[in-house]
Amino acid sequence: MQSPSMQHRVLLDTMTSLLLSVSPCKDDTVRILIDELRPIKARYRVPDVITEEGARCEQLRVERKSKDSVTLSWSSGRHRVRVWHFPFRLEILCDDEVTLTFNHKGKLWFETLQDPPSHVYGLPEHADGLQLRDTRDGEPYRLYNLDVFAYDVHSRLGLYGSVPLLVAHNADRTLGVFWLNASETFVNVGYSQSEHEDDQTPPVKRKRMQPQTDVHWLSESGVIDCVVLLGPGPQQLFSQYAQLTGFPALPPLFALGYHQCRWNYDDEADVKAVDAGFDRHGIPYDVIWLDIEHTDGKRYFTWDPALFPEPAALQRHLEEKKRRLVVISDPHIKVDPDWSLYCEARDGGHFVKTREGRIYQGSCWPGESSYLDFSNPDTRAWYSRCFGLDKYKGSTASLFVWNDMNEPSVFHGPEQTMPKDAVHHGGWEHRDLHNLYGFFQHMATAQGLITRSGGLERPFVLSRSFFAGSQRFGAVWTGDNVASWEYLKISIPMVLSLSVAGIVFCGADVSGFVQDPEPELLVRWYQAAALQPFFRGHSAKVTKRREPWLFGDEVTAAIRTVIQERYRLLPYWYTLFYLAHTSGLPPLRPLWVEFQKKESAFTVDSQYMIGGALLACPVTEPGVQQVQVLLPGRGEVWYDVRSAEVHEGGRTLSLPVTLDTVPVFQRGGSVVCRSTGSGSCTAEYQQLPLSITVALNTQAAADGELYLDDGHSFSYRDRKAFCLRRFSMLSGRLVCRPAGDKGTFGCDTTIQSVTVLGVKSAPSAVVVHVPGAEDASAAFQYTETCCMLTVSDLNLRATTDWEMLIL
Ligand code: NOJ
Repeated sequence: MQSPSMQHRVLLDTMTSLLLSVSPCKDDTVRILIDELRPIKARYRVPDVITEEGARCEQLRVERKSKDSVTLSWSSGRHRVRVWHFPFRLEILCDDEVTLTFNHKGKLWFETLQDPPSHVYGLPEHADGLQLRDTRDGEPYRLYNLDVFAYDVHSRLGLYGSVPLLVAHNADRTLGVFWLNASETFVNVGYSQSEHEDDQTPPVKRKRMQPQTDVHWLSESGVIDCVVLLGPGPQQLFSQYAQLTGFPALPPLFALGYHQCRWNYDDEADVKAVDAGFDRHGIPYDVIWLDIEHTDGKRYFTWDPALFPEPAALQRHLEEKKRRLVVISDPHIKVDPDWSLYCEARDGGHFVKTREGRIYQGSCWPGESSYLDFSNPDTRAWYSRCFGLDKYKGSTASLFVWNDMNEPSVFHGPEQTMPKDAVHHGGWEHRDLHNLYGFFQHMATAQGLITRSGGLERPFVLSRSFFAGSQRFGAVWTGDNVASWEYLKISIPMVLSLSVAGIVFCGADVSGFVQDPEPELLVRWYQAAALQPFFRGHSAKVTKRREPWLFGDEVTAAIRTVIQERYRLLPYWYTLFYLAHTSGLPPLRPLWVEFQKKESAFTVDSQYMIGGALLACPVTEPGVQQVQVLLPGRGEVWYDVRSAEVHEGGRTLSLPVTLDTVPVFQRGGSVVCRSTGSGSCTAEYQQLPLSITVALNTQAAADGELYLDDGHSFSYRDRKAFCLRRFSMLSGRLVCRPAGDKGTFGCDTTIQSVTVLGVKSAPSAVVVHVPGAEDASAAFQYTETCCMLTVSDLNLRATTDWEMLIL
């Protein structure tokens, strides 16, 4: 045995000795690793996902030992681990109660590496190999990153990315199981009731049925490396997971604005025309995107000389309006011995190889292509350098990047991906690290953009493929969805699942990549996506143009309203992203994260919380005149964001809707900061004053936070150039103070107005107190019908302390 983690020799069902290592880590997580004691060759252990911090473990002590088991404890006090030798079982105890059992039913099977077994053949006819495969029934969740165009909905088949984190929640506890394996993985889940004896002493002892959830993991290769996250609540769990695999990157502010993409904008004139269209129609946006057609023959890092002859001038044109360009950069490299980038990659040994040791070739957009081996740190460093301004001709500092097809997608490969026996750096087979391929490209691209800026600027990179930890590098989207109502509906649980698994900066193509949306769907999709973290309109090559102003005035106005609302809400979104960056809490949260004991909220996935304050219930069905909204929390109050009408919590509200309605409610007890206008892009709204909405709870109290920094650099991290403010309201007194974290950020942002919801009667006066200045009365308006008080013309600095008294 070794310390601090305990290494233990266990004999599983085979007679081969295995190595069990148990490591309790900081922050109430327990890592369990099983490997062969003497493998015939090393087994792959996933690198670079668990952070240094996450890998730091506590000192273990043997607390009890018997011939059947050993009980281990560590400094946390409450938790213990008990390992049973035969049959092998591992229990995690909390206050002496078993909270989680590993190998509860003794089903663990660790297939040791062996010389090939006998082969079996026969049973024709199948379009398959000669050798028959092992088959099991049912349809488990499959984790295998694949490029699936117009994927089926309600399917458990693998899509573009994988995060092997399972989160379990009930009214008493939230737990997580993280299965660190990047090979093809299946997960079976079973809900059941099992018999338990109750605590009574005999003869009263009775059997009771108790709910039980069984989870079974099956991975093709690698080791068993599993971390149990002990919660006990969602907040702790998100923080434990972020400690382990990294906190989400703080995106540059522009990335939270609206993005306009299409496969493809035809040429420079087209880009400029679309850009001008947004201004002409008064619709804010920040980024315009170019797909694969902008390149010279699908050679990434190049420009089509006829269509994009002056790319740097195009970027400067956009930059003058404080807007950015994003271009695509896929992982396949056209086989072209006359192209210097291909030659560099080939000569530098940067491509994945075949099992015979040749450079692997597969086909993708450019035709015959080779695939960069991003698992190799040298290849990542080389690829990062390709984004250098000197190297990437026609690029400027306002160019950002989109990694696509990085599952990787290989058009004629098995399941449209790379064969499992392709060989990576270190001699590892592709099967071992398949699910990490996109993760590593994302990592290298983000690093490239950071290096390009001399380490000063935050990158923005969108990736289609991802793995646990990808949240450190940027955003992801849900791939090739379809312009239909069912895809709009499924986009909500999809982004919620990503959020719960740490990939917090995520979104779906608005309003469906494949096919053409009807105008009503287009509007409803904009309304929903404006309330999700990553907000990008995108459409496939053969679809009709769908810039927001092409469907008549009513549609243009509806889309303008939601995008403007998104921009007004950006101070709140940006604050949520800062909190995600520092605490791991996702900006988008399933209801159960905020209402941990409310069982009625546990199964809801058509509505969600944006932070702790706003509940959104986007309309995702056609022709709807009414929606049902669950407002959780008996004894709580909710305010309709548009009408300020107050509703009681703990019930389902029938809300009449028109095409304009976006059901959003602010929770009593919260404070939300908005901008007073949207501007034409994020850089413009940043100059505008703020307005604060204080939604009182039944104790007439509320609080909330505001985060401010320069919006683009790492100064918030390196020079603590940020400010985090807290607004707290109690007994008619609203106080603006620093919120814990020490930072200093000089900015002129002011608060122009404060709206207080839930004020029972008209005040006699509102007085503002700023230290060092005389108290001043403020102008206010009280609306009795909705108990709303609006205090205006304030001009209070957001970064200094002040108080407001409602008398
Ligand atoms: C597939 C991506 O999912 C899609 O968004 C993109 O437009 C095409 N590839 C072409 O690059």
